[in-house]
Amino acid sequence: MEVQASTTIESAVKMIDVKKTFDGKEYVLKGLNLDIKKGSITAIIGFSGTGKSVCLKHILGLYKPTSGKIEVLGRDLESMSKDELTKFRQEFGVLFQSAALFDDMTVLENVCFPLFEHRRDLNFEEVEKIAKEKLHNVDLDPKHFGKLPSQISGGMQKRTGLARALALDPEILIYDEPTTGLDPILTEMVDDLIVSTHKRRPGTTSIMVSHDLYAAFRIADTVAMLDAGKVLLVGTPEDFYKSEIELVKRFVSKGIKH
Ligand SMILES: Nc1ncnc2c1ncn2[C@@H]1O[C@H](COP(=O)(O)OP(=O)(O)OP(=O)(O)O)[C@@H](O)[C@H]1O
Ligand SMILES: [Mg+2]
Repeated sequence: MEVQASTTIESAVKMIDVKKTFDGKEYVLKGLNLDIKKGSITAIIGFSGTGKSVCLKHILGLYKPTSGKIEVLGRDLESMSKDELTKFRQEFGVLFQSAALFDDMTVLENVCFPLFEHRRDLNFEEVEKIAKEKLHNVDLDPKHFGKLPSQISGGMQKRTGLARALALDPEILIYDEPTTGLDPILTEMVDDLIVSTHKRRPGTTSIMVSHDLYAAFRIADTVAMLDAGKVLLVGTPEDFYKSEIELVKRFVSKGIKH
């Protein structure tokens, strides 16, 4: 990818005064400023409906801001053509709440898929080799490689989804509610997997939207709380515990209770 090679890029994502309205009347993002440092694990938290998912979709270039600017890895998203943007998306690995695997493909085929799509330079054996490596990285036993998603557990499906997100060695990994709806054991497993995956890939950036405040504080080095389409507070988990902002205090006390 052609990033400006001469300059060191400190930010993975920069959102500058981003505003977004879908209907021309009500603004979902109301001047959002967010600087996500390269190499960080950043958690985006906030009450339901505050714009967290919409924010992620802007970072992915799936939504265009009504006004404001978004830079990802030093590139202005607005300056990219549709084709450039499609190619640029290879820099992202995405894992949503549902692992969203292809039901009729085996575990291995699921992980091979993005490689067949985007790495036309590789032959079949090379693709399989990389896919197996990624599955190995997420600790999935090779005996499951030939199974369909319906034949493996929820935890294994998450591992497969993550292996697929990692297939193209993305610079930025994005998780939207990766553990919502999972039991506590599985939640902890996925949380640990996010951290170990991040640590294995120095310099890459992980961005996670989470309802689970406890996990966000445990995993992330930087936390950004959104409220009503703006950033209310960015800081370390410690900054959140110490914050005097009423809404932050309320959110923290509610989120940590259960
Ligand atoms: N494509 C869309 N068209 C119109 N409105 C939308 C669209 N996507 C999101 N919104 C609105 O934007 C607001 C923020 O939604 P968003 O999904 O970002 O919330 P969230 O913070 O992720 O909430 P949750 O924690 O419940 O997932 C909501 O009021 C939602 O209805
Ligand atoms: Mg959401």
